[in-house]
Amino acid sequence: MFPCDFAWGAGTAAYQIEGGWQADSKGPSIWDTFCHKKGRVFGDQNGDVACNSYELWEKDLECIQQLGLTHYRLSLSWARLLPDGSTGHVNQKGVQYYNKVIDDLLACNVSPMVTLYHFDLPQALQDQGGWKSLSIATFFDSYAQFCFQTFGDRVKLWITINEPYVCAKLGHEDGIHAPGLKEPGIAAYMVGHNMLRAHAMAWHSYNSLYRPKQRGAVSLAINSDWLEPLHSDCAEDIAAAERYLAFTLGWFAWPVFVTGDYPEIMRSAIDAQSKKLGYSGDSRLPSFSKDEPAVLGTADFFALNYYTSRKVKARGACEQVLCMKSDRDAEEVLDPSWPICGVSWLAVVPHGLRKLLKYIKDTFNNPAVYITENGFSQVGPLQIEDDQRSEFYKDTIFEVAKAIGEDGVNVRGYFTWSLLDNFEWSDGFSVRFGLFHVDFSDAKLSRAMYHSGREYAKIISKYKSNQ
Ligand code: NOJ
Repeated sequence: MFPCDFAWGAGTAAYQIEGGWQADSKGPSIWDTFCHKKGRVFGDQNGDVACNSYELWEKDLECIQQLGLTHYRLSLSWARLLPDGSTGHVNQKGVQYYNKVIDDLLACNVSPMVTLYHFDLPQALQDQGGWKSLSIATFFDSYAQFCFQTFGDRVKLWITINEPYVCAKLGHEDGIHAPGLKEPGIAAYMVGHNMLRAHAMAWHSYNSLYRPKQRGAVSLAINSDWLEPLHSDCAEDIAAAERYLAFTLGWFAWPVFVTGDYPEIMRSAIDAQSKKLGYSGDSRLPSFSKDEPAVLGTADFFALNYYTSRKVKARGACEQVLCMKSDRDAEEVLDPSWPICGVSWLAVVPHGLRKLLKYIKDTFNNPAVYITENGFSQVGPLQIEDDQRSEFYKDTIFEVAKAIGEDGVNVRGYFTWSLLDNFEWSDGFSVRFGLFHVDFSDAKLSRAMYHSGREYAKIISKYKSNQ
């Protein structure tokens, strides 16, 4: 039931695995700056070394081969390629590193899916206003074009920006991700807006200048939980779940796939809350300018990062401050029947993925879908025989099979998060998502396959031989 060219992958991101934060003239990124301040990350850990994939790439390649992956999703570090963020200064060592990674993958018959931006803005651009500034979109477009020009002869699947929701909200409203800003109610909407503008500019550049020769596909990776009303017969809960979905998936998918603008539910919720709290400026949710490249239609496939599901109930706008939580006015609740994996925000709900896929098919006109992330974390004592995670992968892939076979969703690929245990952002190394264990206490940073890695390899080999 999986198509013969189905992508079986696993993913990583530059800051989470590479280390080499200053190696060979790499510039600093906002995550370098963020982690080097005390009190930001669990145990004051940082990604200075991480899995040292900058030096140990061949070890990662062995892991990829042991799993039998057809695809590997990696991200490029913007500051490794362009240390101050602009194309005026190219770091050739960075170019060589990614050329080698891409060439080695292809030599092993593994196709790269490359993310241009996975949370690590060059610090030099943050110093000029970062994602809050309108001019970031032009910088991003030049960086993207540099990457298309340099690597696009070999890379055919591109993700411009990973999880704009997380960058915007966790980085600029909650302050728990880099750049650590706590500016509730306004900044996150501006950041999300500039990310959409940047994505759209890069997609148009690819479409007109590179696609004719390179024939690849470009999208942005949108994260969303599956959200359903706590009480399916309660109108307030139904509306709350719809609103919540509009503030996660809809925020980015609506402009790109449906109307070129934000979901109406989102705008009216924000404007109503502004009015209620006496905020008198323009709408806090910006508008797209007709003079800029259109956002509508700028995705060649739907890239979905799915981890979990939640029940949602109405709150009754009880928050008296301007913030996204009060704007969306919906509260998430964990269903007690859903088991929890390592990280507390992760209820294990494989069937939620099937529902979300069906929703995407019905709402966004049956796009090709890549599940660009899906995973299960461990915390606490190490379990190499991670049976719960193995079951999770089996169950989830079975749900994907049903989404394809029974619901007719056009799923083209599935990428686990992650190939390796790595630096899990503000949780540091305390949370492990890898199919391979990495021994961070040993200077060699040796990699060892978890039981779940063996199971995933079996699944891949079974489906590949059926195809
Ligand atoms: C999504 C992010 O893209 C990735 O970087 C992160 O490690 C996983 N979620 C798990 O939290």
